[in-house]
Amino acid sequence: VKILNPSVFINQMPPAAQLQKTLKAKNLIIFIDERVSEIPFVAQWLTGFPYVLRVSCGENLKTLEEYTRWSKKILPYLQGSLPQESALVVVGGGTAGDFGGFLASTLKRGIGLCHIPSTWLAAIDSAHGGKNGVNVDQFKNQVGTVYHPQKIFLVKELLFSQPSENLTSGNGEALKMAIIQGGSLFASFERTKNIDANFIWKVLPALIQGKYKVVKKDPLEKKGHRRILNLGHTLGHALESKNGLAHGMAVQMGTQFILDWSLELKFIKKSSHERIRKVLIKNTLKPISPISTEHLLSQLSQDKKHSLDGIHCVFVKNIGRPFIKKVKADDFITAAKRWGWAR
Ligand SMILES: NC(=O)c1ccc[n+]([C@@H]2O[C@H](COP(=O)([O-])OP(=O)(O)OC[C@H]3O[C@@H](n4cnc5c(N)ncnc54)[C@H](O)[C@@H]3O)[C@@H](O)[C@H]2O)c1
Ligand SMILES: [Zn+2]
Repeated sequence: VKILNPSVFINQMPPAAQLQKTLKAKNLIIFIDERVSEIPFVAQWLTGFPYVLRVSCGENLKTLEEYTRWSKKILPYLQGSLPQESALVVVGGGTAGDFGGFLASTLKRGIGLCHIPSTWLAAIDSAHGGKNGVNVDQFKNQVGTVYHPQKIFLVKELLFSQPSENLTSGNGEALKMAIIQGGSLFASFERTKNIDANFIWKVLPALIQGKYKVVKKDPLEKKGHRRILNLGHTLGHALESKNGLAHGMAVQMGTQFILDWSLELKFIKKSSHERIRKVLIKNTLKPISPISTEHLLSQLSQDKKHSLDGIHCVFVKNIGRPFIKKVKADDFITAAKRWGWAR
């Protein structure tokens, strides 16, 4: 499997005819976050499509029960045509994307898929790379597939319609990518005064390209190379599931923790740690209360990065130099307590 970056950058919503042509599908099903569908220019755009499904989104959507419910709603639209003549066009954040991607990959064993991300987090990260899925109990992304979308439209007017919390969350993944990539991408984050919407729109192609650079080496996630994209996610997932914290914010906290731990273990120099710290504080987060050891332990044992002999943890050697090292769950917990993330 070879994958190219299928991103298209545009200012306004793509009309139905353009979508049918680029996706080579006559039957388009719009699967849209209901909140997004109420934005006036989006509501106007939707009038051009016969099949529109308005979906209540958020982490609550990503369940097996919702999967059953939505499959039954969509299947009738697919009757009477070949699977490849239909495409699901997902408009929403990462939860709509993860859920819609899983639907598209499994209905009739796979129909067309296109993402139009409406959150910065989805635009920067989750719409790319093909990973989708639903949660099982409190464990994230336990059932899913790797299924690459045919196209991803990054629409300026849509991304700029978001509230500021969404920018703060998306910035968590953007900062993660800047640390992984290093080089000129990290330098732009050092130079900018504020990580605002205009800045992110400007660096969006480079952030996305950074993800594809990693994904290309392992498109179906068979070799473990994509694990470096999990920087900040081991602690992040535990914080996210406990506090109802936005994904990107949790990831940024997890990244901060790993940096501090990397410094303590002498993996990274003080000067590089300081340069990264200065960039991270440009995206201000509200403090949270520590999580319990039991919760952290249960998350660590379910985490997909966990194997019998330890957790695959992403540390940082330098800017642009993340690396994977196995650690014991006990050591992880002790360290998390030391910086006040767990109690
Ligand atoms: N598949 C991957 O590779 C990958 C990568 C990173 C994260 N994720 C997943 O992504 C999810 C988080 O995504 P998210 O942060 O986009 O969450 P989300 O989809 O829940 O969106 C956040 C909130 O913003 C609202 N919203 C969306 N677009 C809006 C707009 N334009 N204007 C106003 N409100 C809008 C949504 O209704 C929701 O309330 C998590 O489930 C995470 O696990 C997946
Ligand atoms: Zn993430």
